[in-house]
Amino acid sequence: MISNKIKDRIVGNINIPSDKSISHRSIIIPSISMGISEINNLLMSDDVMHTLNALKNLGVNIEKSNNKIIIYGKGLNSLKKPNKNIYLGNSGTSARLLTGLLASQTFETILEGDKSLSSRPMARIMDPLKLMGAEFENVSGTLPLKIIGKKLNKSKIEINIPSAQIKSGLILAALNTEGVSHIIEKHITRDHTENMLKSFGAEIDIKKINNQTSIYVKGKKELKSVNINVPSDLSSSAFFIVAALINKGSKISLNNININPTRDGLLKALKKMGAKISIKNKRTVSEEIVADLEVEYSNLVGCELDAEMAKFMIDEYPILSIAAAFAKGTSIFRGLKELKVKESDRLELIRLNLVNCGCDCKIKNDDLIIKPSEVYITKNNKIRTDFDHRIAMSFAVMGSKVGNLNIEDGESINTSFPNFIEKFNNAGGNIL
Ligand code: S3P
Repeated sequence: MISNKIKDRIVGNINIPSDKSISHRSIIIPSISMGISEINNLLMSDDVMHTLNALKNLGVNIEKSNNKIIIYGKGLNSLKKPNKNIYLGNSGTSARLLTGLLASQTFETILEGDKSLSSRPMARIMDPLKLMGAEFENVSGTLPLKIIGKKLNKSKIEINIPSAQIKSGLILAALNTEGVSHIIEKHITRDHTENMLKSFGAEIDIKKINNQTSIYVKGKKELKSVNINVPSDLSSSAFFIVAALINKGSKISLNNININPTRDGLLKALKKMGAKISIKNKRTVSEEIVADLEVEYSNLVGCELDAEMAKFMIDEYPILSIAAAFAKGTSIFRGLKELKVKESDRLELIRLNLVNCGCDCKIKNDDLIIKPSEVYITKNNKIRTDFDHRIAMSFAVMGSKVGNLNIEDGESINTSFPNFIEKFNNAGGNIL
């Protein structure tokens, strides 16, 4: 796709799609509860459909009815051996969460993914699960992965990598394991799994001491079924927020956005850069905090963010880097090691593509340094995405300022944000 300069400005009330992380969990958790759950506003993107089809292949009855998904859960140990390998496309969240879920179901499953997912690390979830007695047939540490499901043992497990996917996989394994498992998180990560499980009646106890979190999960306690309303995704709204901030005269409003405090780093970072963002009508829906946002064009200034911030906004660095490219002064974002193992090596692709656009951008150790240019003259208009949806959308926003960016593999956007192009163009964007 080609992203051209916008004709005027970004305006309007933009309806942002539902949260991807919460949508995955809104399929998995009801599927192992006891009873019928209705899910409103599930994100119908490729990644989430992979989780939904996986649970169907595991014998769960899931029906679509208008804007709702009805899930007929039959309990913690009710999944059935699938009659084929489970294909998860590009979805890291599906891969890590389902590995945890299936490790304790007493049958064998093989998980597969696309080229990008098949190169992403799986040892980070297999290794801690092995401490619970889980068994796998896999030498590469990547997909395809054969899970030899069996009864697991309650354990005390420390997670040293900042990853909600690892934590959630372990919690799902612990739910179907006799006794109380103790999961220790060394870094704060998104807590949607814990929030949802509380509303499903799980015995999950969370104790925070300094920056370390102890999660105690009592296994073999059946979950009740609950209806869920999935809020809109802050990570998806980020592309519109930054597009409005950097294009003169822009003003947008975004309703019902999930601003879970483990995920709101982008808003804090942008405010530090001088962004005019108002957060209104804060409220709690289905154990998650949501609010309405108003954003207008702002004169941004560069900022320095320490490594701690990365845990609260890991998915937002590609689009934050675009904001930094149009700010006054240098930005330095520190401690971005985890960006290298996302849907692509995001750290390198941000650098490469910003440099192609004429920006002075460097990586030093795991830090990203962005020195904006007064005027952008693209060296090469090709934007390499390695089929990474967030790189594609971020550079579509860059294109709204510099024009004529040829974004490769634009269809990757369907991973998290179907209709992005249509919505962006309706709000004033110019993507062909
Ligand atoms: C996610 C956790 C994060 C994030 C991903 C979604 C989740 O990954 O980058 O987009 O839904 O749990 P990590 O757990 O690898 O940090």
